[in-house]
Amino acid sequence: MSAPAETVTVASPADFHVHLRQGEMAEVVTKHVRHGGFSLAYVMACPLPALLLPPLGWLIAADAAAIDPGVEYLMTLYLCPELTPDEIRKAAGAGIAGVKSYPRGVTTNSEGGIESYEAYYGIFEAMEEVGMVLNLHGEVPSAAGTNTCVLNAEPAFLPHLRALHGRFPRLRIVLEHATTRAAVECVKSLGETVGCTITAHHLALTVDDWAGQAWHFCKPVAKYPDDRAALREVVSEGHPRFFLGSDSAPHPYESKAVAFPTQSCAAGVYTSPILLPLVAQMLDSFGALDRLEGFVSTHGRAFYKRPVTQGDSAVVLRRGVSKPVGIEGYGSGATHVVPFWAGKELNWEIVRE
Ligand code: NCD
Ligand code: ZN
Repeated sequence: MSAPAETVTVASPADFHVHLRQGEMAEVVTKHVRHGGFSLAYVMACPLPALLLPPLGWLIAADAAAIDPGVEYLMTLYLCPELTPDEIRKAAGAGIAGVKSYPRGVTTNSEGGIESYEAYYGIFEAMEEVGMVLNLHGEVPSAAGTNTCVLNAEPAFLPHLRALHGRFPRLRIVLEHATTRAAVECVKSLGETVGCTITAHHLALTVDDWAGQAWHFCKPVAKYPDDRAALREVVSEGHPRFFLGSDSAPHPYESKAVAFPTQSCAAGVYTSPILLPLVAQMLDSFGALDRLEGFVSTHGRAFYKRPVTQGDSAVVLRRGVSKPVGIEGYGSGATHVVPFWAGKELNWEIVRE
């Protein structure tokens, strides 16, 4: 057996699902994309009802680029009734890369999410025409009188994915943050236009890790050990339609850690500041370090038609113990955020000149 690699080089890492927030929180979290080793961020429009309208994509891009122009930001719109095929064509012309769909009520601030896809067929046709990507939060909302809950919400969504792909075979669709074996198998069975993101934390966690542990709670929740095994297997296989989308989602300490009598903790795991070392550590832990570049760069870039170009810089990682921040996290007050893995050791670090 050959000795384990001591360094690994990745061409222009790209995170295809990040939440950057706005205002003061953006000031704290935006620079962590680059700190975490990434030079491209596919930014999910925050599903805040008051900020639903399509210009939100541009607002976040402008904020982010003002804070750190060293990262390429790809923007998305939020699928909502205000969106028209004409807006889609305008947005594509202005460089907006995709449209994010949240089923109503499944995650942080998704009260304005969609209830039926049929109503949006005109939008999907326009997207197919202009080459925009549809990003799906693939969970069916829990509803009274049904057996749906956080554990089976993703498999219950998969028939919608199949139907959408069947109806719009040329539309590029990404099933975001897959957490189950069923989702992995479903995406594999579909055509070349269907991709799938996997987060770093879902490669690490199972149900036992978030039950009673607010910092590990996000939507979709981490599932059974066998589901995590399926995610690890598809990454190890180097399947080209599966790539990293961190779903890094910062929430203030108070919203995560303080138990309110009327409110549950906010959904979202914050991985941006340590993302590349964390992914390297995960892949190394299940013997897939040789898949790192495909998973965090080339697969996603190929799907999104954003290949690594000459002049893009590579990131070098080396084996070596590093310790992310502890519970003190970053920011303060309403911007106090604590990242995943806080206080624990990482055994890969970015070589910074
Ligand atoms: C995300 C957030 O906080 O913005 N939370 C999460 O648990 N993933 C929203 C989302 O992408 O679902
Ligand atoms: Zn997300």
